[in-house]
Amino acid sequence: MTKKLAIGMFQGGGVRQSWKIAGRENDPNFTDLGYWIDLAKKCEAAGVDFLFFADSYGYPTLHGEIVPTAVERNVQFSTVDPHTLIAALAAVTTKLGLVTTTSTMVEAPPALTRQYRSLDHFSAGRVGWNIVTGSAQAASAMLFGEDLMPHDERYAKAAEHVELSLKFWEGCWEPDALVRDGANGVWADPAKVHEIVHDGTYFKAKGVLVTPPSPQVTPVLFQAGASSAGRALAARYAEAVFLAAESKALAAQIADIRRLAVENGRGADAVKCLIAGTFRVADSRAQAEAEHQAIIDRISLEHAATLYAYFTGIDLLSLDLDKPIPESAANGDNGRTNIERFLGPDAPTVREVLEEFRANGVMGKPFLGTPEEIADQAEAMIEETGADGFLVQPEFDGGHDLFFGRVMPELRRRGLLKDELEGATLREHLFGEGSVLLPESHPGAGFRAANALV
Ligand SMILES: Cc1cc2nc3c(=O)[nH]c(=O)nc-3n(C[C@H](O)[C@H](O)[C@H](O)COP(=O)(O)O)c2cc1C
Repeated sequence: MTKKLAIGMFQGGGVRQSWKIAGRENDPNFTDLGYWIDLAKKCEAAGVDFLFFADSYGYPTLHGEIVPTAVERNVQFSTVDPHTLIAALAAVTTKLGLVTTTSTMVEAPPALTRQYRSLDHFSAGRVGWNIVTGSAQAASAMLFGEDLMPHDERYAKAAEHVELSLKFWEGCWEPDALVRDGANGVWADPAKVHEIVHDGTYFKAKGVLVTPPSPQVTPVLFQAGASSAGRALAARYAEAVFLAAESKALAAQIADIRRLAVENGRGADAVKCLIAGTFRVADSRAQAEAEHQAIIDRISLEHAATLYAYFTGIDLLSLDLDKPIPESAANGDNGRTNIERFLGPDAPTVREVLEEFRANGVMGKPFLGTPEEIADQAEAMIEETGADGFLVQPEFDGGHDLFFGRVMPELRRRGLLKDELEGATLREHLFGEGSVLLPESHPGAGFRAANALV
């Protein structure tokens, strides 16, 4: 196999977990900038394409109330603002891509586009936006004093959000609009700076994104959320997607995204499909399994149910444990990926779903074993699913060092990784040297002043 894999490092909602180890509660934790600086530098030295920070304003709630286990065990609960963090990490790295999530339900396009454009400047073109409609929407909506918007309508709003954001990024400034002529006192050419006028269903705007174009103009567009509405959004706009499931389901999701991308006039390869997975490397398979099991043993069924409630708004412990999740659950207004995943003819029982969440959360089967075994498993996964790479979540403390020090060299030895990151920008890392801007086949290119005046 000659395909070079894209590798991102995943920093999930559980943030740094070392406080869970007795005696290590006071290790530097996720509120400590030094920890993140250290991690970003390690990622850069290892040569991964990017570091990704998940984000959400939501946390587990049921029937409008916070779930006490969420607070007690920090189940998708405490976090810091990753956007602020990325600005700091941009200053101590030079090549590493930096990606985070902003839900289209939270920031309106003028605020979001200014923020990401600023980050793209500060990082010299290394930033990506993970577009989501948001996990734990019930909590997030309450927090912002809004009604919970129906699931598919959230995706309609997301599509309009992305369109308007693309208008701001691609349509406001022509490439040579910024003049910066000190002698004549000219900052920019007014004829080449265009006002955006948008009168849509969810957003209205008239005006200009005042921050001049950054190296990538539009940050690299990621997407996560593999419900059917999520896949349709990804196929239209995303340049990379995060997916997590068993290999058969992944293969089907990836085939669907590629088919839809072609229907949208984009190439089948326009979207990098990245499998999110947990990795645990040890000296033997048995040791990796034992270490993984030791973590599972610390997770109660209440913890697993709280995690499930975070993603779906469903209280599994209130259902019949020996029957599958009812099909009607997929009509609710919370996140659907982790409901749809467990329906259909081979649907597991609620008890099995709980066990799956206890063992693997949303990430699917972990990659466990020696570096060679993990590389075998990774290669097989790529072949079975047609994916383009991985979003790697090393388990617990020390996991990053082991992944960088042992698994990356093995993947490299097999020719599965690039020797050097391509280009200076994140889009080039993913799509090759020279691919700094959105390609012409992307809908965003249609908003460029040269293509269509807005
Ligand atoms: C690897 C991975 C990372 C994700 N990161 C986020 C995130 O940072 N924030 C978020 O709200 N949702 C994230 N999601 C998506 C949620 O799980 C959820 O599916 C989505 O926000 C709701 O959309 P849905 O209804 O399509 O499931 C992620 C999913 C995966 C697989």
